[in-house]
Amino acid sequence: MRLTNGESFTDFRGVISSEAALREEERCRKRNLSHVRGHAVTDYEFVSHAEIDNREWLTRSLADLNALTFGHYRGVIVPSPSFMDWYTRRPGMEPALCQGVLAGDSLVSSLFVTLAPMRLNTEVLVCGIVDTVMTHPDHRRRGLARGLLDRAVGGMKKGGADLSLLYTAVADPPAVPQRLYESLGYSTYGLVDRFVKAPPHLSAAGPAATVSPDAELRCHVEARLGTRSGWLVLDEALWGWRRVDRLADYPVALERARDGTLAAVCCGRLLAGGQQQLYAVVSDLAAASGQVREEALCSFLSTIPTKATATVLCPRSDISLAHALEAVAFRAAGTEAAMLLPLSDAAKKQVARRSSLWYVAVESVIGV
Ligand SMILES: CC(C)(COP(=O)(O)OP(=O)(O)OC[C@H]1O[C@@H](n2cnc3c(N)ncnc32)[C@H](O)[C@@H]1OP(=O)(O)O)[C@@H](O)C(=O)NCCC(=O)NCCS
Repeated sequence: MRLTNGESFTDFRGVISSEAALREEERCRKRNLSHVRGHAVTDYEFVSHAEIDNREWLTRSLADLNALTFGHYRGVIVPSPSFMDWYTRRPGMEPALCQGVLAGDSLVSSLFVTLAPMRLNTEVLVCGIVDTVMTHPDHRRRGLARGLLDRAVGGMKKGGADLSLLYTAVADPPAVPQRLYESLGYSTYGLVDRFVKAPPHLSAAGPAATVSPDAELRCHVEARLGTRSGWLVLDEALWGWRRVDRLADYPVALERARDGTLAAVCCGRLLAGGQQQLYAVVSDLAAASGQVREEALCSFLSTIPTKATATVLCPRSDISLAHALEAVAFRAAGTEAAMLLPLSDAAKKQVARRSSLWYVAVESVIGV
């Protein structure tokens, strides 16, 4: 800022101090003094990820917080900074909509929001996908996750989202996250079972053939899976991020079985009870005939490392896939709920209709 003719130094000081006052006001607006029974008052600052200038610090902090909060879950990604760097480049992930809470100079709570066109029955609607909701154990039960979700929902509405989607583990009675989401208006739209198969993977079927992730294949996959609810429109950017511009630790191969069934096979280390284990996540199973057959599953299993545990996320609505998985010795190991929050009338109408088949975007549940 420069002094112009006629402005005294006092005026200039005045401008500076009013700017400082505005900045302070803005900081106070974002602050939330949280008082918890028996605990000291803590000064929290709610910020969007876009407001954090140092991307390297943010990536590292997100990886650390993710490791701390999800480390005990089975079958989740090993959240290294390189994973976070790749994941936060997910097309549609909006730093201005992603939310965090700072306590001093630490990130203590966070969530991601990705805006993506998603099919719901007959409509393609703008969906705000929320994931990786996490609060540092020392800062829980102070309303941080609720505050972040409130801000995220407000941001999604402003950003033109028709609805919001998130996945959470199902338990009986429902666990804290599910109750939290329900209290904000999310409701379970469909269930997704996690099927796993431990090695060895002996198979009479020949291995599937690796195919190149070109634009033609993208159209094939879209033609086979794109009519399902939950389908994320597979444009070039999403295809590139998922299939081409991959993270080295979690490479993905596109495989075609003899009967033409396609699948994406991603190998890497996932966390299992605090330990790292070799996993192969088989996703986007797309059968030419409509139904995935056992033989095709066996040929995908033949392509994975011998010591890897195989994982498939199977929508409860996909009964034929569940049967085929059970027939080749996969067993169900936990269930996730796909929860929706309609934000527009168009979404309310579609959410009220039950859809027959659900598509699960594996990155929203496992991260790969
Ligand atoms: C789930 C999680 C993000 C909640 O974070 P948080 O900042 O403690 O949540 P909040 O303080 O905003 O609490 C939200 C609600 O959950 C309830 N709640 C939170 N922790 C609870 C607990 N341990 N027991 C019972 N209820 C609890 C509170 O009643 C609160 O509702 P209220 O606002 O009506 O009081 C946190 O526990 C966490 O990081 N868990 C591990 C990671 C995870 O599972 N994430 C969700 C993945 S889908």
